[in-house]
Formats: sequence, structure tokens, C-alpha cells
Amino acid sequence: MDLYEYQAKDLFAAHGVPVGPRQRVVTHPSDAWDAAADYGVPVVIKAQVKTGGRGKAGGVKLAKDADDAEVKAAAILGLDIRGHTVRRLLVVPASTIAEEYYFSFLLDRANRTFLAMASAEGGMEIEELAAERPEALARVPVDANEGVDLARAKEILTAGGFPEPVLDRAAEVVVRLWDTFVAEDATLVEVNPLVRDEDDRIIALDGKVTLDENAAFRHPAHAELVDTEAEDPLESAAKAKGLNYVKLDGQVGIIGNGAGLVMSTLDVVAYAGEEFGGVKPANFLDIGGGASAEIMANGLGIILSDPDVRSVFVNVFGGITACDAVANGIVQAFQLLGTVTKPVVVRLDGNNAAEGRRILDKASLPGLTRLDTMDEAARTAAELAAKGA
Ligand SMILES: Nc1ncnc2c1ncn2[C@@H]1O[C@H](COP(=O)(O)OP(=O)(O)OP(=O)(O)O)[C@@H](O)[C@H]1O
Ligand SMILES: [Mg+2]
Repeated sequence: MDLYEYQAKDLFAAHGVPVGPRQRVVTHPSDAWDAAADYGVPVVIKAQVKTGGRGKAGGVKLAKDADDAEVKAAAILGLDIRGHTVRRLLVVPASTIAEEYYFSFLLDRANRTFLAMASAEGGMEIEELAAERPEALARVPVDANEGVDLARAKEILTAGGFPEPVLDRAAEVVVRLWDTFVAEDATLVEVNPLVRDEDDRIIALDGKVTLDENAAFRHPAHAELVDTEAEDPLESAAKAKGLNYVKLDGQVGIIGNGAGLVMSTLDVVAYAGEEFGGVKPANFLDIGGGASAEIMANGLGIILSDPDVRSVFVNVFGGITACDAVANGIVQAFQLLGTVTKPVVVRLDGNNAAEGRRILDKASLPGLTRLDTMDEAARTAAELAAKGA
């Protein structure tokens, strides 16, 4: 789970990472006026969106006083930044920046280790820095058992070219960032820019944190960080039912068993859809190994309640769960759902396919078309979606 900057900074502050004196989250320009008037100093207004490059997109602005803050806030609210609409702003007192640095801890999956990245050249996008001046960005593996103490932190910062005079103070901040990373079960803690201000204080002026959802059971408090407003309502409903569902922007609802099969189903449907005016898959839904009637009904229920969906493609390859069990699941799911108003195309193959097909044919469910191959079924589902549109 990615956090907003203000949430990341709250976590930083809880672990002793300096983040500046005050911050306030606002949703209206008039609240930005209030915050700026309260602070009584120039402020920075920052779009709160879970994507990078806010500054370049006009989402970070300096305001000299309260009136200016209101104007700038109005300009940033509603902006679209890489597909994210700005609904919240962070108002912070402007810092006087002497130098901008970069620092992060992350999980390096490829090398099965943690990684620290540090550079005295912060501020710009790290991808750019890594591409243009890779020598300016230190990448130092961190052993999970050894962790990061002051001495290790200084080594990392030295490798990143941090100036000698700030090493001690910056190292303290780095140790606290490591504390944050470990204590919160994060997979990313990034500060860009980490600054030295004119009073020689080291401050995290920005914060990106990704929390490891697999560790959520250890952190009941993290539940409060979930942004239910921004969550897709269908995705939340699916999550509540324990379904592995991702909303997409097409018209053919997809159910399959196994992530690999579902992904190739998305491809096949998108390909088949080209012939019918660009019909596309409406979602990813992997019902996994157990295609019970209940799971099938839950999955179908979510997909059919998506107003964008015009047809549904159920693509199952029987393995441990054989096709006859899946077919019975589909029949019972239709009974559980009552009326199914959108056409459903089913392809069953694999273990016990003949029996599964026989069960479906015998049930002759209204609106259900059964086909033998994935290509045929995808094409039919796309065609039905195009007709229904
Ligand atoms: N409190 C502040 N006081 C003064 N300047 C600031 C402050 N916050 C940010 N800035 C300036 O704005 C720049 C961009 O801010 P920030 O890093 O938060 O956004 P960004 O880098 O554009 O967004 P992202 O990190 O999402 O790509 C900083 O590099 C810094 O120069
Ligand atoms: Mg930044």
C-alpha cells in the first residue's frame, strides 16, 4: 500500500525523522488561506496524489501569503497528475533550502536484500539521475540482520557524496529512517528531497512510503491509512469477499482460475475485441483453485454489478478443481444470483472437461453460451459486448 506524503511524514515524525514544524491537509482553497494565515510565513502548497513528478506537473507551489495560498490552492485542486485527480493539498511552511539530497531504503527483490540509495544530488527525479549520472547515486546493500547504525549510515552517505560537514546529522536521520522502514514493515521509504536548510538542519521535505500489506496483521493502525474514498467501490467489494479483482476500463467481464490464465485471457479478449470496435476486458478476476458455487456467485455478482460490463467470459482450465465441480459451481451461482441479465460465455477445458460441459449443456442456463476453445469464446464474448453496447 502506497501512502500519501502527509501520511508518510506522520510516520516519519513518529520515528523521530525531522519533517518540519507543521503540516495541514486541506481540501478547499479557503482552508489553505487559514493555514497560511496561521503560520504567518510563506507556505508551500503540495498536491497529495500517489504518484511522482508532482512539481513538474504544477502540483507544488510556493505562496508568499494567505491570499496567494488561496489562489495557488485553487489552481492545484482538481489538477490531473498522471491520471490522479488532486483532491487534497498539504500546506507546510516554506523552508529555506541550502542543499537538496536524495535518500531511500527499499526491498531489492532481484538481489534478495534491502538496498539503501543515497545521493547528494537530490530534488530531481531519481530515475533521471540514475540514467544520466549513475555514478552520483550510491546503491548500498543492507543486510537485514545487521541493519543500519550510525557508522553504517555514514558509510552509505559518504558513498552518495554527502558533504563531510553534514554527515553526522544526516546519519542520525538515516538511522531513524531505517527504524521507520523496519518498524512499519515498509518496502520503500524514500525522501526526495532530504534538505539542509539555512540553519543547517536536516529535514525530510518530501516522503514516499510503501507498506508491505503481507505484514498488515502486525499493524492494526495501518488500517486507518487506507484511503477508502479513492478506492474503486467494486475493488473494495471484491476485497471484502476475498476476491483477487482489479477493475479495468473495458466491457468484457473476465473470470478465470489462476493468475497466468486470467492474464492471457485479458490479452486474448483485447485481441479479439479489436475486430469489434476496440472492445476490451473490464477486469482481472482470478478465482484461484476453489471454484465453488459461492466463489463463482461472488465473482459473477461483482462483475455483473459493474455498469461498464456488457458480457462475461468465464475461462476455466480444470486442474485439481475439476471441470465438473466448476460447472456445478456455475449452475448453482446462476441459482444464487436469480436473474443474470448479461450474456455469459463459458469455456471449460482440462480435467474432466467432458463431464463439465455435459452439466452445463444439460442445465441450459439462460444467456449462457458454452464454447470449447479459448479463442472462440473470447471472440464471442467480445462480439456480444459490442452488440450490447
Ligand atoms: N516545505 C518546502 N519548502 C521549500 N521548498 C519546498 C518545500 N517542499 C518542497 N519544496 C520544493 O519543491 C520541490 C518539489 O517538492 P517535492 O519533492 O515534494 O515534490 P516532487 O518531487 O515534485 O514530487 P514527487 O516527489 O512526487 O516527484 C522540492 O525539491 C523543493 O525544492
Ligand atoms: Mg519529491
